[in-house]
Amino acid sequence: MKNIYEATSETIEKAASVIKTGGLVAMPTETVYGLGANAFDNKAVAKIFEAKGRPSFNPLISHILDIEQAKEFAILDERAIRLASKFWPGALTLVLNRKENSSNMDMVCAGLNTVTVRIPDNKIALDLIEKSGVAIAAPSANVSGTISPTSAIDVYDSLGEKVDMILDGGKCKIGLESTIIDLTTKNIVMLRPGGIAVEEIEKFMGEPILFSKGNHKLPTSPGQLLSHYAPEKKLRINVISPEKDEIFIGFGKMKCDYNLSEKRDFLEAASNLFSMLRLADGDKSQPKIAVAPIPNENLGLAINNRLDRASYPR
Ligand code: TXA
Ligand code: MG
Repeated sequence: MKNIYEATSETIEKAASVIKTGGLVAMPTETVYGLGANAFDNKAVAKIFEAKGRPSFNPLISHILDIEQAKEFAILDERAIRLASKFWPGALTLVLNRKENSSNMDMVCAGLNTVTVRIPDNKIALDLIEKSGVAIAAPSANVSGTISPTSAIDVYDSLGEKVDMILDGGKCKIGLESTIIDLTTKNIVMLRPGGIAVEEIEKFMGEPILFSKGNHKLPTSPGQLLSHYAPEKKLRINVISPEKDEIFIGFGKMKCDYNLSEKRDFLEAASNLFSMLRLADGDKSQPKIAVAPIPNENLGLAINNRLDRASYPR
């Protein structure tokens, strides 16, 4: 594990020079660990696709320091400014129209004329962006289609030494990816439920938000791929009584092997989701996994969205 470094001002400085010279750095964010590269360096971004084994039609999120930085390459309308001012730094990603002079972002935008940004709520990530002096493109730091990483060791287990440096910032606070909102159409559309509840965004904007399930054969967002976030083991959802050959992941007070949240707290459940899926996957006691029902409200929507895809028959 010689590429894992505890995040200190020296190691962040070193990681910034890796970013500036076109390398890959895995960084902690409040949602999940990201596999970062200079968003303005098409070749560096290509290394991300290669390391993840990700289908190249998927655009990546550019992580930035402040709203001013977004204005350099994206067009922010009044809705974007309102949302950004309210929820950034935080688990909200905005899909925006891209400015024309940004061919250095062709790779990160996967050739689309939209660009996707957020300010992460994590001091290490912000420090790294600042010291690098660029926007940092970062998808989740795992092999495409597998469970997202919420600790430095998860990143290492998935990507090993394909990453130049993994900055260890401990466990991610939220543990679930950001909510993605598309602002390039008249109606506000959610492409992926995530760390900020859509109800909260709707309430703040005072208008309904549509949920696009998209075309899963040509997704605008991999959150829309039917099989994604998948463990190796077969997984059943909405299970009340598990079979003998299933490891049971519970929610609320119940007999189970792992409990997402005894208190039925959505934030706690979200932050445990990926790590418990990973534990259940590695648990040799039973060959299958079952998960108890989670109410489809608040962050439960994002949790169920991930579980649906994790359970899709492959
Ligand atoms: O919390 C997160 O969002 C984490 C951390 C590292 O920031 N990142 C993350 O990235 O989950 P990724 O690449 O695994 O998911 C980003 C999603 C993808 O599903 C991608 O297809 C979608 O955002 N996306 C990016 N740009 C897009 C665009 N222009 N139009 C539609 N979807 C877009
Ligand atoms: Mg991902």
